[in-house]
Amino acid sequence: MTTLLAFLHHAGAFALVAALTAELVLLRSELTLRSARRLQVADMMVGLSAMTALAAGLVRVFHFEKGAAYYFHSWPFLGKLGLFILLALLSIYPTLVFAAWGKAMRRGEAPDFEPGRLRKVRAIVHTELAGIVLIVLFAAMMARGVGFFG
Ligand code: HEM
Repeated sequence: MTTLLAFLHHAGAFALVAALTAELVLLRSELTLRSARRLQVADMMVGLSAMTALAAGLVRVFHFEKGAAYYFHSWPFLGKLGLFILLALLSIYPTLVFAAWGKAMRRGEAPDFEPGRLRKVRAIVHTELAGIVLIVLFAAMMARGVGFFG
């Protein structure tokens, strides 16, 4: 079970990076009805993969590995969890933007992506990817109970 949870946790994390990268690529090209649909699917994958990483992570904290007391006394773990929550809150904005496209898309039209909104969504996806790099650093530190060079 420990191995299965570690697998699910890592699979969720890798899928999250893949889905965010797909979003970034789609956001770089001209928005068409087809790319808008793909963005909505990629955003759904972002949500699903983040939930998988979170659920497997929580089960590992409370039922496997080193025990909840260890993790809640580990600043890299608290940093990792805090950053994860912050990124989850940030991701609400792109999801709302993509969800608002529904009406135009049902009429068979490419949605209107106002430039200011597009810039904001791109900046958020970049921030999420950079945040995940930091989360992986925190993960390595908390797993070993060490500082940067320990
Ligand atoms: C994007 C989100 C996340 C990513 C990319 C991520 C990544 C990782 C990685 C790479 C490891 C392996 C560390 C190592 O053995 O060197 C790990 C371990 C772990 N993660 Fe995450 N994680 C994420 C979110 C979370 C969350 C939200 C939780 C808890 C609520 C969590 C709990 C854990 C636990 C308990 C371990 C095992 C640490 C140990 O071996 O003692 N992770 N994570």
